[in-house]
Amino acid sequence: MVYITNLSDHVDEEVTLKGWVYNYRSSKNLYFVELRDGSGICQCVVAKDAVSDDAWEAAEALRQESSVEITGKVVEDERSIGGHELQVTDLNIFQVAEDYPITPKDHGVEFLMENRHLWLRSRRQWAAMRVRNEIIYAIHTFFQERGFVQMDAPIFTGNAAEGTTNLFETEYFEEEAYLTQSGQLYGEAMAMAHGLIYTFGPTFRAEKSKTRRHLTEFWMIEPEMAFYDLDMDMDLAEDFITFIVNRVLDRCPKELDILDRDTSKLCKTAEGGFPRISYSEAVEQLRSDEMAEMLDQMVEDRKQEAEELKEEREEIKKEHGQAKKWRKAQIDQRVKEIGMRLDEIEEDLRNIPTWRESALNFEWGEDFGGSDETLLTMKYDTPILVHRFPAEIKAFYMKRDPEDEKLALAVDMLAPEGYGEIIGGSEREEDLDTLKKRIDEHDLPEDVFQWYIDLRQYGSVPHSGFGLGLERTVAWLCGLDHVRETIPFPRMMGRLTP
Ligand code: 4AD
Ligand code: MG
Repeated sequence: MVYITNLSDHVDEEVTLKGWVYNYRSSKNLYFVELRDGSGICQCVVAKDAVSDDAWEAAEALRQESSVEITGKVVEDERSIGGHELQVTDLNIFQVAEDYPITPKDHGVEFLMENRHLWLRSRRQWAAMRVRNEIIYAIHTFFQERGFVQMDAPIFTGNAAEGTTNLFETEYFEEEAYLTQSGQLYGEAMAMAHGLIYTFGPTFRAEKSKTRRHLTEFWMIEPEMAFYDLDMDMDLAEDFITFIVNRVLDRCPKELDILDRDTSKLCKTAEGGFPRISYSEAVEQLRSDEMAEMLDQMVEDRKQEAEELKEEREEIKKEHGQAKKWRKAQIDQRVKEIGMRLDEIEEDLRNIPTWRESALNFEWGEDFGGSDETLLTMKYDTPILVHRFPAEIKAFYMKRDPEDEKLALAVDMLAPEGYGEIIGGSEREEDLDTLKKRIDEHDLPEDVFQWYIDLRQYGSVPHSGFGLGLERTVAWLCGLDHVRETIPFPRMMGRLTP
């Protein structure tokens, strides 16, 4: 089989492509078919006098998403989508598609989500899934090259790893069971057997939050390392993200282009050197005059930008009446873009006062909200690492800071450009009695944790790890607004189909 992505190996040859009609138009004795085969898109030109009557009739019958087999000669054509064109000699139909619900016009996101099984075929969705695939490949490459062993944690569990408030309960024969929130506790047992391990699996959170960062089912990558302290944990997290970003920049330029991703900040991230600040410093930053000034400036900048955009819109609208057809289309496009940007600005102008309020009144001991995370990363181009959180707001298994008992040796990595937390990790409590005390303090049942407590009895060692949320990483690298477009079939509150 020849795939569109490999057409450069077949220039001037006759090949047969199999795929679906992405788009088509006709002019008299010509049909232009944009064929999509999963690997890419290629324009196929059907000339009436170059094909049999049957093939011409087949071309006339084509509809969007009809499945076809097209034979023709590959020619280089820089202007053509994908850089090649197929001069068609034969065309056979597998199936003529019914009227396809997703057309080039704008559809609302709810409609697209209802048709997710078809929406996956669209170009931007295609590009996002390719980036997701590259990230997954990069993750395995990174760990495998460093001697980590990939091991799987169970999905049915009897215990809660990350707090009891967002567990999905299920029945396990006669027993009560939960869907796992994290593979970490099992990861710790596996690290005591293999030293360096990582899990890569689905995790579940019954989160009743309908935000752009939350899924109820998401994929998490959790390395766990024996003999690592918090600093080593942070070094690894930074190297890991730097590696992934480099891979995606290197291997997905086409996809990032389809997604209109501005890669300037990702290029900064690719160089590493992420700032590290303590939770307490982060709180000071949120409450600072500098933060208030930055937000006030942001409001001014947004207002100014809106003025300029409105002026531009007036100007080009005046031009519209006398403009040529191609220019009219250009103007319409620009007016649409301006409208979208103005909506964004309006939303920012509505949000900023709330963000400002929340930041300036932030109290030490609280957990960061989405807007606090956005503000904290605002002055940086790369992700930042925030470490040493109040132990009160963190999980039972985290080791306390020997310098300050109120603090947990925890770290969160916050991605820039408003993406927020992508990694959560910590050094683990390795002392038997302290761990038992924590389980007790958190009101957790000791019996289901007995195996976990055991680990502290048989050669306990300092150890650390972290968890990366795959979908949040995909959203960030692709520049997507919402995690629903980062996984083939997202599961969120209120969404179980398709
Ligand atoms: O910070 P979290 O809850 O950490 C853990 O689960 C630890 N056991 C990890 C470890 O130390 N091994 O979750 C880790 C990451 C978050 O930073 C976020 O990227 C992602 O998982 N995440 C979610 N992604 C999508 N939807 C949700 N509801 C998520 N909850 C967490
Ligand atoms: Mg977290």
